Amino acid sequence: MSSGEPALVYRARDLHKSYRSGEEHLRILQGLDLDLRAGEIVAVLGTSGVGKSTLLHLLGLLDSPDQGSLELEGRDLSSAGGMQRDAVRNRSIGFVFQFFHLVPELTALENVLLPARIETGLLDWLRVRGERRERARALLDQVGLGGRVRHRPAHLSGGERQRVAIARALMNEPRVLLCDEPTGNLDPETSRGVWDVLRGFRGTTRAILVVTHNEHLAADADRVLRLRGGRLVDGAAAAAV
Ligand SMILES: Nc1ncnc2c1ncn2[C@@H]1O[C@H](COP(=O)(O)OP(=O)(O)OP(=O)(O)O)[C@@H](O)[C@H]1O
Ligand SMILES: [Mg+2]
Repeated sequence: MSSGEPALVYRARDLHKSYRSGEEHLRILQGLDLDLRAGEIVAVLGTSGVGKSTLLHLLGLLDSPDQGSLELEGRDLSSAGGMQRDAVRNRSIGFVFQFFHLVPELTALENVLLPARIETGLLDWLRVRGERRERARALLDQVGLGGRVRHRPAHLSGGERQRVAIARALMNEPRVLLCDEPTGNLDPETSRGVWDVLRGFRGTTRAILVVTHNEHLAADADRVLRLRGGRLVDGAAAAAV
């Protein structure tokens, strides 16, 4: 790392991913490279079916590449086993999805607490739960939902659900926040609000990657990349071609 540059949080090199579909071999990612640095919000654009969600699944350790390497804060994850991958995912990576994926039976506060609960053994939980609840409440305040902590998802608007999902994704203070079309299901004004909330969570130790079809919001990112032909290319340059 050259001096003065923000720390490299996540590095992907030469990622390949194919799917078999009957006789066909779908080559989706073909030698993709990506560097994510602390403090940046990076937008990824690309046509439907090009492999954006596939990429997020690999970065989120929900799936494995056929080839290539992933390094999170200097730690090589290529050879990590299942339990290690689960621990890294829960501890260091936050997810926000298009359809929120909140647990319907739980209140907003309980949804936000869930990643902390999963990470903590029962005895430790009894010791730390007060502090964790405070953090969950503070996060809900930060996303403007301090007055909705007891609401269940069914009684929240779409934008509010997504803000709960963002608070949940941040509960364990992840180094990387991966967002797959977080505003894809929201009207333009609500989308802008959710985007602004995301931007506000850029941190000195955190990078945010947002897949979006919304070019207006993407233009507000620190960098815009376009997934094309299985690789990421500079968004501005790609738009000029
Ligand atoms: N498990 C799978 N088995 C077979 N094909 C798959 C599988 N998962 C994804 N694909 C195919 O891989 C391609 C990339 O899918 P992906 O979901 O990554 O696209 P995307 O860029 O996120 O699209 P969208 O913008 O519509 O969400 C698609 O053509 C899809 O049909
Ligand atoms: Mg997708």
